[in-house]
Amino acid sequence: MQPTDQPAVQPQVPDPTETADGPAEGEKPFEFRVADRISQLPPYLFARINQATYQRRRAGHDIIDMSMGNPSDPPAQFVIDKLAEAANDPRNHGYAPALGIMSLRREVASRYLKKWGVRLDPESEVISTLGSKEGFGHLCLAIIGPGDSVVVPAPSYPAHVYGVALASGKAILIDTTDPDRYLADIARTCEREKPKMVIVNFPHNPTATVVGPDFYVEVVKLASRYGFMLVSDLAYADVTFDGYETPSILSVDGAKRLAVEFTTMSKGFNMAGWRVGFCAGNRDIVRALGTIKTYYDYGMFRPIQIAAIMALRNGEADVAAQAKVYEKRRDVLCEGLARVGWPVTVPKASMFVWAKIPEPFASRMSSMDFAAMLLEKADVAVSPGGGFGVAGEGYVRLALIENENRLRQAVRQIGRALSEELKVAATA
Ligand SMILES: Cc1ncc(COP(=O)(O)O)c(C=O)c1O
Repeated sequence: MQPTDQPAVQPQVPDPTETADGPAEGEKPFEFRVADRISQLPPYLFARINQATYQRRRAGHDIIDMSMGNPSDPPAQFVIDKLAEAANDPRNHGYAPALGIMSLRREVASRYLKKWGVRLDPESEVISTLGSKEGFGHLCLAIIGPGDSVVVPAPSYPAHVYGVALASGKAILIDTTDPDRYLADIARTCEREKPKMVIVNFPHNPTATVVGPDFYVEVVKLASRYGFMLVSDLAYADVTFDGYETPSILSVDGAKRLAVEFTTMSKGFNMAGWRVGFCAGNRDIVRALGTIKTYYDYGMFRPIQIAAIMALRNGEADVAAQAKVYEKRRDVLCEGLARVGWPVTVPKASMFVWAKIPEPFASRMSSMDFAAMLLEKADVAVSPGGGFGVAGEGYVRLALIENENRLRQAVRQIGRALSEELKVAATA
């Protein structure tokens, strides 16, 4: 299985000898060159650790997998039942409206009003996407081209970097872990070059950094002053803890002049495999995304859209309960790690713990080596911070996707592995 936040494969030219369609004797192998947009993609940094996890599993080890942000729980039963019922209706199997059936878009607008007090016109200011990742990638293709630059949060959710690169844009990576400094750095950047777009992603993947409403007020002011477009990735809007609530950029006065926001049913609603996301906000930006999408896809299977409507309408209690599940897992993991001598920052939202690698390991090994050590010595898979770019070096990301018992077991195994490694280091 591949992580949802990492590309499925590292682009490469297939080896023709691996298939039954390989060259006959004496025949030259068929060769081709992939397009520059593929070959110039930044390197896929998770490959080594994914390969090691795969091999260890094949060797029979029970790996506690905290490497990916892939929800492990199913959606609410009434949502699955609605999907089955709608799939049993023969009228629901043709192409559906590419940008979402109107009642789904209306439901999204109504959730924005209830949750954030934001009024949206479902016809012109909301469309559905095949997950927010697809929507973001196509938005880049619709808006960005050669010569355009985009401010991307660092450390980076890989799709933000790849989306800009595939659209031939230039990513300006700015550290996002201190939101006030992020604002100041964006302003400084705008004094020397003019980004066309700025991406904001709070709660942030991978660092779980969150912001209050003031952040959005300030970033909208900056966007007006410097004339850039804002794209807010609100993938973790529904996974919040300790009473923290994620603000929406669209609730800021004037935001709709220059901003869109992506939301998703992947995380809070446990519908990651269903591919249901939304883009809402500025109508011209929404229209540009809609235009490019109609050239690339035919939209979401209608029964999924129908079940998504029911989930949005009646699923808030389940979303809240799921957030509690993550909150408890967070407590088990953070308290457990502190007990075994690895104190970590406790996140207020998202599905991740962004953990600073403890000393003396941090000064001796890269995040990749530390993650490989945890895999080999503790049978625990985590994502090395360096996989999210150089700004992630010195950290690992632990996803809260295993149940509490498995997390306790992970903590025990990590504790044992760290103390054994320390003993080895002391005697070396
Ligand atoms: C920050 C962020 N944005 C977007 C996504 C993609 O979500 P979706 O399933 O809606 O495509 C993810 C998934 O991991 C994410 O972490």
